[in-house]
Amino acid sequence: MAKHAVGPLAENDVGNAMVSVLKTTPVSDALGAEVTGQDLSRPVVGTLKSEILQSFRDHHLLCFRDQHIDQERMYDFASLFGEVENHKISLGDGSKWGAVHTITNLDADGNPVAKPFVNSNYFWHTDKSFLATPALLTMLQALELPPKGGDTQFADMTKAYAALPADMKRRLDGLKVVQSLEYMRRFTGSAPPTEDDIAAAPPVAHPLVRTHPDTGLKSLYIGMYSSHIVGMPEADGRALLGDLLDHATQPHFVYTHVWRQGDLVLWDNRCLLHKAVANYEMGKYRRVLMRVVVRGGAPH
Ligand code: SIN
Repeated sequence: MAKHAVGPLAENDVGNAMVSVLKTTPVSDALGAEVTGQDLSRPVVGTLKSEILQSFRDHHLLCFRDQHIDQERMYDFASLFGEVENHKISLGDGSKWGAVHTITNLDADGNPVAKPFVNSNYFWHTDKSFLATPALLTMLQALELPPKGGDTQFADMTKAYAALPADMKRRLDGLKVVQSLEYMRRFTGSAPPTEDDIAAAPPVAHPLVRTHPDTGLKSLYIGMYSSHIVGMPEADGRALLGDLLDHATQPHFVYTHVWRQGDLVLWDNRCLLHKAVANYEMGKYRRVLMRVVVRGGAPH
């Protein structure tokens, strides 16, 4: 049996020593690892599954190279991590995402547009933080890419929190930040949410510093949905949120993913921010990524 093949537990057992099935290589000093030698079109079972879950915990972002899986497999793979999200909020044109959907720069006729309909992806955020139970992870698979650019950036909120001075940590302790879909749409110049959308996702207060349920580590929980800080004058809260975002997205906390055909990237929304980078000719080249989101629990 080849070292990296998908297989049940016993196949990795060499005497008493367990040999790792998963071949991971860190992709930056900040976060993330690349995984090679796996074919996700095959079932993920036994040790492989637990190693993927452990690597996800360790690196917060995994990039599986050379994948070509269909919607059903993408759904099944995402389900290993938890419940796949069924999106309730409309995109502004009345349409809603399916559980597995695409992120594109294409219009309804399939032509590239210079200003994509959903432009909020271009601001630092953590997926679904405007919900009471925000996203645990998001998974993207590259289907069509521009010849150059169209990158995605990720920032490590655990490292960013750890690097704050002690007096700032004390100041943030116990603060709650209101996360709002309506605020985000206004802030990013996107289509306003409908009344139904607002009713389905009213603003919610989450801890500004959350504790990761698996690692027990604290991280900043901020980004484009962060409207204001509870109990603080709006302007002061926004200024503090802006300062924290500037701190947390310094280059040494950031990994820039330069997409390759066949990349499948999944990341932990509980401790990372991300944003798409508008570094390609959007009106000329197609960029299509298959996407699925896994629901998490309430942040604490
Ligand atoms: C997202 O924000 O979920 C998508 C990011 C991207 O398009 O690179």
